[in-house]
Amino acid sequence: DWSMADLARESIEKIREKVGTDRVLLGLSGGVDSSVAAALIHKAIGRQLTCVFVDNGLLRLHERELVVDLYKRNFNMDVRVARAGSKFLKALKGVTDPEKKRKIIGKTFVNVFQDSLKRIGDAKYLAQGTLYPDVIESIAIDGNPAATIKSHHNVGGLPKSMKFELLEPLRELFKDEVRALGSALGLPKEVVWRQPFPGPGLGVRVLGEINKRNLDILRKADAVLHEEMMESELYYKVWQSFCVFLPVRTVGVMGDERTYDNVIALRIVESKDAMTADWSRVPYEVLQRVSTRIINEVEGVNRVVYDLSSKPPGTIEWE
Ligand code: XMP
Repeated sequence: DWSMADLARESIEKIREKVGTDRVLLGLSGGVDSSVAAALIHKAIGRQLTCVFVDNGLLRLHERELVVDLYKRNFNMDVRVARAGSKFLKALKGVTDPEKKRKIIGKTFVNVFQDSLKRIGDAKYLAQGTLYPDVIESIAIDGNPAATIKSHHNVGGLPKSMKFELLEPLRELFKDEVRALGSALGLPKEVVWRQPFPGPGLGVRVLGEINKRNLDILRKADAVLHEEMMESELYYKVWQSFCVFLPVRTVGVMGDERTYDNVIALRIVESKDAMTADWSRVPYEVLQRVSTRIINEVEGVNRVVYDLSSKPPGTIEWE
Protein backbone atom coordinates (compact mmCIF):
# COMPACT_ATOMS: atom_id res chain seq x y z
CA ASP A 1 0.00 0.00 0.00
CA TRP A 2 1.58 3.19 -1.27
CA SER A 3 -0.07 5.74 0.97
CA MET A 4 0.66 3.63 4.05
CA ALA A 5 4.31 3.32 3.18
CA ASP A 6 4.40 7.11 2.74
CA LEU A 7 2.60 7.66 6.01
CA ALA A 8 4.99 5.36 7.81
CA ARG A 9 8.02 7.05 6.33
CA GLU A 10 6.70 10.49 7.19
CA SER A 11 5.86 9.50 10.78
CA ILE A 12 9.23 7.87 11.29
CA GLU A 13 10.97 11.00 10.05
CA LYS A 14 8.92 13.18 12.41
CA ILE A 15 9.68 10.96 15.40
CA ARG A 16 13.41 11.01 14.69
CA GLU A 17 13.42 14.77 14.37
CA LYS A 18 11.50 15.30 17.57
CA VAL A 19 13.28 12.75 19.75
CA GLY A 20 16.84 13.30 18.59
CA THR A 21 19.14 11.34 20.88
CA ASP A 22 16.74 11.22 23.86
CA ARG A 23 15.09 8.12 25.29
CA VAL A 24 11.44 7.18 25.02
CA LEU A 25 9.36 4.96 27.32
CA LEU A 26 6.14 3.27 26.32
CA GLY A 27 3.58 1.17 28.17
CA LEU A 28 3.02 -1.85 25.96
CA SER A 29 -0.27 -3.69 26.52
CA GLY A 30 -0.17 -5.90 23.46
CA GLY A 31 -3.31 -4.23 22.12
CA VAL A 32 -3.44 -2.75 18.62
CA ASP A 33 -2.74 0.87 19.52
CA SER A 34 0.24 0.46 21.81
CA SER A 35 1.66 -2.23 19.52
CA VAL A 36 1.56 -0.05 16.41
CA ALA A 37 2.95 2.91 18.35
CA ALA A 38 5.79 0.72 19.61
CA ALA A 39 6.57 -0.70 16.16
CA LEU A 40 6.57 2.75 14.60
CA ILE A 41 8.73 4.39 17.25
CA HIS A 42 11.07 1.41 17.27
CA LYS A 43 11.55 1.70 13.54
CA ALA A 44 12.42 5.35 14.03
CA ILE A 45 14.78 5.22 17.02
CA GLY A 46 15.49 1.54 17.74
CA ARG A 47 16.99 0.89 21.19
CA GLN A 48 16.30 4.45 22.34
CA LEU A 49 12.80 3.10 22.95
CA THR A 50 12.11 1.05 26.08
CA CYS A 51 8.74 -0.66 26.43
CA VAL A 52 7.19 -1.62 29.75
CA PHE A 53 4.76 -4.52 29.87
CA VAL A 54 2.84 -4.90 33.12
CA ASP A 55 1.88 -8.46 33.97
CA ASN A 56 -1.05 -7.83 36.29
CA GLY A 57 -1.83 -11.52 36.76
CA LEU A 58 -5.13 -10.91 34.96
CA LEU A 59 -3.87 -11.84 31.52
CA ARG A 60 -4.98 -14.67 29.29
CA LEU A 61 -3.17 -17.99 28.92
CA HIS A 62 0.45 -17.44 27.76
CA GLU A 63 -0.29 -13.79 27.00
CA ARG A 64 2.87 -12.39 28.58
CA GLU A 65 5.06 -14.92 26.81
CA LEU A 66 3.43 -14.19 23.45
CA VAL A 67 3.89 -10.44 23.78
CA VAL A 68 7.46 -10.62 25.03
CA ASP A 69 8.35 -13.17 22.39
CA LEU A 70 6.99 -11.12 19.54
CA TYR A 71 8.58 -7.80 20.43
CA LYS A 72 11.84 -9.02 21.89
CA ARG A 73 12.64 -11.83 19.48
CA ASN A 74 11.04 -10.62 16.24
CA PHE A 75 11.61 -6.89 16.61
CA ASN A 76 14.60 -6.89 18.98
CA MET A 77 12.86 -4.28 21.11
CA ASP A 78 13.94 -3.40 24.63
CA VAL A 79 10.95 -4.78 26.53
CA ARG A 80 10.91 -4.80 30.34
CA VAL A 81 8.32 -6.91 32.11
CA ALA A 82 6.93 -5.86 35.45
CA ARG A 83 5.74 -9.08 37.08
CA ALA A 84 3.13 -7.76 39.44
CA GLY A 85 0.54 -10.53 39.53
CA SER A 86 0.83 -11.17 43.24
CA LYS A 87 0.60 -7.47 44.01
CA PHE A 88 -2.67 -7.21 42.12
CA LEU A 89 -4.10 -10.38 43.66
CA LYS A 90 -3.20 -9.19 47.14
CA ALA A 91 -4.88 -5.84 46.57
CA LEU A 92 -7.97 -7.58 45.20
CA LYS A 93 -8.31 -10.13 47.98
CA GLY A 94 -11.85 -10.35 49.30
CA VAL A 95 -13.16 -7.64 46.96
CA THR A 96 -16.32 -8.52 45.02
CA ASP A 97 -17.79 -5.14 44.04
CA PRO A 98 -17.17 -4.54 40.31
CA GLU A 99 -16.41 -0.83 40.60
CA LYS A 100 -14.08 -1.39 43.55
CA LYS A 101 -12.25 -4.07 41.60
CA ARG A 102 -11.78 -1.70 38.65
CA LYS A 103 -10.50 1.07 40.89
CA ILE A 104 -8.03 -1.21 42.65
CA ILE A 105 -6.74 -2.61 39.35
CA GLY A 106 -6.37 0.90 37.89
CA LYS A 107 -4.59 2.24 40.96
CA THR A 108 -2.26 -0.73 41.25
CA PHE A 109 -1.46 -0.44 37.55
CA VAL A 110 -0.43 3.18 37.91
CA ASN A 111 1.77 2.35 40.92
CA VAL A 112 3.48 -0.56 39.22
CA PHE A 113 3.96 1.38 35.99
CA GLN A 114 5.44 4.38 37.80
CA ASP A 115 7.81 2.15 39.73
CA SER A 116 9.06 0.56 36.52
CA LEU A 117 9.55 3.95 34.89
CA LYS A 118 11.59 5.14 37.87
CA ARG A 119 13.73 2.04 37.75
CA ILE A 120 14.44 2.42 34.05
CA GLY A 121 15.73 5.91 34.62
CA ASP A 122 16.04 9.07 32.60
CA ALA A 123 13.88 9.47 29.56
CA LYS A 124 12.49 12.61 28.05
CA TYR A 125 9.42 11.16 26.39
CA LEU A 126 6.51 8.97 27.34
CA ALA A 127 4.87 7.51 24.26
CA GLN A 128 1.20 6.62 24.02
CA GLY A 129 -0.96 5.00 21.37
CA THR A 130 -3.59 7.72 21.51
CA LEU A 131 -5.79 7.74 18.40
CA TYR A 132 -7.83 10.57 16.93
CA PRO A 133 -11.12 9.19 18.28
CA ASP A 134 -9.56 9.02 21.78
CA VAL A 135 -8.69 12.69 21.54
CA ILE A 136 -12.29 13.54 20.73
CA GLU A 137 -13.78 11.04 23.14
CA SER A 138 -11.85 12.27 26.12
CA ILE A 139 -13.31 15.70 25.45
CA ALA A 140 -16.83 14.48 24.79
CA ILE A 141 -18.56 11.51 26.27
CA ASP A 142 -19.10 11.09 29.96
CA GLY A 143 -19.83 7.72 31.48
CA ASN A 144 -18.29 5.87 28.59
CA PRO A 145 -16.31 2.99 30.06
CA ALA A 146 -13.83 3.31 27.23
CA ALA A 147 -12.91 6.76 28.52
CA THR A 148 -12.36 5.42 32.04
CA ILE A 149 -10.11 2.73 30.70
CA LYS A 150 -8.10 5.16 28.76
CA SER A 151 -7.46 7.20 31.85
CA HIS A 152 -5.58 4.25 33.28
CA HIS A 153 -3.98 3.02 30.11
CA ASN A 154 -2.82 6.46 29.18
CA VAL A 155 -1.44 6.91 32.68
CA GLY A 156 -3.24 10.12 33.42
CA GLY A 157 -2.07 9.74 37.01
CA LEU A 158 1.66 10.25 36.64
CA PRO A 159 3.13 12.33 39.45
CA LYS A 160 4.18 15.88 38.69
CA SER A 161 7.75 15.03 39.56
CA MET A 162 7.91 12.79 36.52
CA LYS A 163 8.17 15.35 33.81
CA PHE A 164 7.67 13.55 30.56
CA GLU A 165 6.85 15.08 27.26
CA LEU A 166 4.21 13.07 25.45
CA LEU A 167 4.92 11.37 22.18
CA GLU A 168 1.70 10.40 20.43
CA PRO A 169 2.47 9.41 16.85
CA LEU A 170 -1.03 8.00 16.15
CA ARG A 171 -2.92 11.08 17.32
CA GLU A 172 -4.25 11.97 13.88
CA LEU A 173 -5.24 8.46 12.83
CA PHE A 174 -8.40 6.39 12.89
CA LYS A 175 -8.42 2.75 13.90
CA ASP A 176 -8.46 1.38 10.34
CA GLU A 177 -5.48 3.55 9.43
CA VAL A 178 -3.64 2.34 12.52
CA ARG A 179 -4.27 -1.28 11.49
CA ALA A 180 -3.02 -0.62 7.96
CA LEU A 181 0.04 1.09 9.38
CA GLY A 182 0.64 -1.85 11.72
CA SER A 183 0.53 -4.27 8.80
CA ALA A 184 2.89 -2.09 6.78
CA LEU A 185 5.30 -2.19 9.74
CA GLY A 186 5.25 -5.97 9.76
CA LEU A 187 3.00 -6.65 12.74
CA PRO A 188 1.18 -9.99 12.40
CA LYS A 189 -2.53 -10.33 11.79
CA GLU A 190 -3.06 -11.65 15.34
CA VAL A 191 -1.95 -8.29 16.66
CA VAL A 192 -3.38 -5.97 14.04
CA TRP A 193 -6.82 -7.60 14.02
CA ARG A 194 -6.93 -8.60 17.68
CA GLN A 195 -10.27 -8.34 19.44
CA PRO A 196 -10.54 -5.59 22.06
CA PHE A 197 -9.51 -6.65 25.57
CA PRO A 198 -10.37 -4.54 28.61
CA GLY A 199 -7.60 -2.84 30.58
CA PRO A 200 -8.64 -4.59 33.82
CA GLY A 201 -8.31 -7.87 31.92
CA LEU A 202 -9.80 -11.02 33.36
CA GLY A 203 -10.47 -9.02 36.52
CA VAL A 204 -13.84 -8.01 35.09
CA ARG A 205 -14.52 -11.54 33.83
CA VAL A 206 -14.06 -13.43 37.06
CA LEU A 207 -17.27 -12.47 38.81
CA GLY A 208 -17.12 -12.34 42.57
CA GLU A 209 -13.77 -12.73 44.28
CA ILE A 210 -10.71 -12.87 42.08
CA ASN A 211 -8.34 -15.61 43.13
CA LYS A 212 -5.81 -17.82 41.42
CA ARG A 213 -8.10 -20.86 41.20
CA ASN A 214 -10.92 -18.95 39.51
CA LEU A 215 -8.52 -17.13 37.20
CA ASP A 216 -6.88 -20.40 36.14
CA ILE A 217 -10.25 -21.98 35.37
CA LEU A 218 -11.26 -18.96 33.31
CA ARG A 219 -7.93 -18.90 31.48
CA LYS A 220 -8.26 -22.55 30.45
CA ALA A 221 -11.87 -22.17 29.35
CA ASP A 222 -11.08 -18.98 27.45
CA ALA A 223 -8.18 -20.67 25.65
CA VAL A 224 -10.56 -23.40 24.44
CA LEU A 225 -13.04 -20.83 23.14
CA HIS A 226 -10.24 -18.90 21.43
CA GLU A 227 -8.97 -22.04 19.73
CA GLU A 228 -12.41 -22.96 18.45
CA MET A 229 -13.13 -19.42 17.26
CA MET A 230 -9.89 -19.51 15.28
CA GLU A 231 -10.50 -23.02 14.01
CA SER A 232 -13.99 -22.13 12.75
CA GLU A 233 -12.69 -18.84 11.30
CA LEU A 234 -15.15 -16.84 13.37
CA TYR A 235 -12.61 -15.04 15.56
CA TYR A 236 -12.05 -12.15 13.14
CA LYS A 237 -15.73 -11.98 12.14
CA VAL A 238 -17.15 -11.19 15.57
CA TRP A 239 -16.41 -8.15 17.71
CA GLN A 240 -15.46 -10.07 20.83
CA SER A 241 -15.60 -13.66 22.03
CA PHE A 242 -14.67 -14.57 25.58
CA CYS A 243 -15.59 -16.57 28.66
CA VAL A 244 -16.90 -15.34 31.98
CA PHE A 245 -16.34 -17.22 35.23
CA LEU A 246 -19.47 -17.42 37.39
CA PRO A 247 -18.99 -17.90 41.12
CA VAL A 248 -21.96 -20.23 41.13
CA ARG A 249 -21.89 -24.00 41.54
CA THR A 250 -24.43 -26.29 39.93
CA VAL A 251 -24.99 -30.01 40.17
CA GLY A 252 -23.89 -32.29 37.38
CA VAL A 253 -23.00 -35.89 36.75
CA MET A 254 -19.79 -37.29 35.32
CA GLY A 255 -19.54 -41.08 35.00
CA ASP A 256 -21.40 -42.32 38.07
CA GLU A 257 -20.26 -39.38 40.13
CA ARG A 258 -22.25 -36.37 41.16
CA THR A 259 -20.34 -33.16 40.57
CA TYR A 260 -20.85 -29.72 42.06
CA ASP A 261 -18.79 -27.29 40.04
CA ASN A 262 -18.68 -23.79 38.55
CA VAL A 263 -20.40 -22.35 35.48
CA ILE A 264 -18.71 -20.73 32.50
CA ALA A 265 -20.68 -18.27 30.37
CA LEU A 266 -19.77 -17.66 26.74
CA ARG A 267 -20.04 -14.07 25.54
CA ILE A 268 -19.76 -13.70 21.76
CA VAL A 269 -20.98 -10.43 20.27
CA GLU A 270 -21.11 -8.53 17.02
CA SER A 271 -20.72 -4.79 17.06
CA LYS A 272 -19.34 -1.82 15.13
CA ASP A 273 -18.11 0.37 17.94
CA ALA A 274 -19.02 -1.35 21.24
CA MET A 275 -21.74 1.23 21.90
CA THR A 276 -24.37 -1.30 20.82
CA ALA A 277 -23.92 -5.01 20.36
CA ASP A 278 -25.87 -8.15 19.62
CA TRP A 279 -25.12 -11.74 20.56
CA SER A 280 -23.62 -13.61 17.67
CA ARG A 281 -25.61 -16.35 15.91
CA VAL A 282 -22.72 -18.77 16.18
CA PRO A 283 -23.45 -22.13 14.52
CA TYR A 284 -24.71 -24.73 17.02
CA GLU A 285 -21.89 -27.11 16.05
CA VAL A 286 -19.30 -24.59 17.20
CA LEU A 287 -21.15 -23.91 20.47
CA GLN A 288 -21.45 -27.61 21.05
CA ARG A 289 -17.74 -28.23 20.51
CA VAL A 290 -16.79 -25.37 22.81
CA SER A 291 -19.15 -26.56 25.54
CA THR A 292 -18.09 -30.20 25.36
CA ARG A 293 -14.42 -29.32 25.35
CA ILE A 294 -14.64 -26.89 28.26
CA ILE A 295 -16.59 -29.34 30.42
CA ASN A 296 -14.25 -32.23 29.55
CA GLU A 297 -10.97 -30.36 29.67
CA VAL A 298 -11.38 -27.74 32.38
CA GLU A 299 -11.47 -29.16 35.87
CA GLY A 300 -13.91 -27.31 38.10
CA VAL A 301 -16.45 -26.59 35.36
CA ASN A 302 -19.50 -28.79 34.73
CA ARG A 303 -21.82 -26.38 32.95
CA VAL A 304 -21.50 -23.91 30.05
CA VAL A 305 -24.17 -21.33 29.14
CA TYR A 306 -24.51 -18.90 26.23
CA ASP A 307 -25.29 -15.23 26.87
CA LEU A 308 -28.26 -14.09 24.74
CA SER A 309 -28.31 -10.44 25.86
CA SER A 310 -27.94 -7.52 23.51
CA LYS A 311 -26.44 -4.15 24.40
CA PRO A 312 -28.37 -2.20 25.46
CA PRO A 313 -29.76 -3.10 27.91
CA GLY A 314 -26.93 -5.54 28.67
CA THR A 315 -23.28 -4.53 28.44
CA ILE A 316 -20.68 -6.56 26.60
CA GLU A 317 -18.70 -7.34 29.75
CA TRP A 318 -20.53 -8.79 32.75
CA GLU A 319 -18.99 -6.34 35.20
P1 XMP B 1 -19.21 -2.73 27.90
O1 XMP B 1 -19.06 -3.88 28.84
O2 XMP B 1 -19.34 -1.43 28.62
O3 XMP B 1 -17.85 -2.67 27.11
O4 XMP B 1 -20.31 -2.94 26.89
C1 XMP B 1 -17.66 -1.92 25.92
C2 XMP B 1 -16.28 -2.20 25.39
O5 XMP B 1 -15.29 -1.68 26.29
C3 XMP B 1 -14.51 -2.73 26.83
N1 XMP B 1 -14.35 -2.45 28.26
C4 XMP B 1 -13.23 -1.96 28.81
N2 XMP B 1 -12.04 -1.69 28.26
N3 XMP B 1 -11.26 -1.04 30.40
C5 XMP B 1 -11.05 -1.23 29.06
O6 XMP B 1 -9.94 -0.96 28.56
C6 XMP B 1 -12.43 -1.29 31.02
O7 XMP B 1 -12.58 -1.11 32.22
C7 XMP B 1 -13.48 -1.79 30.17
N4 XMP B 1 -14.75 -2.15 30.42
C8 XMP B 1 -15.26 -2.55 29.22
C9 XMP B 1 -15.27 -4.01 26.56
O8 XMP B 1 -14.40 -5.14 26.45
C10 XMP B 1 -15.97 -3.68 25.28
O9 XMP B 1 -15.13 -3.87 24.16
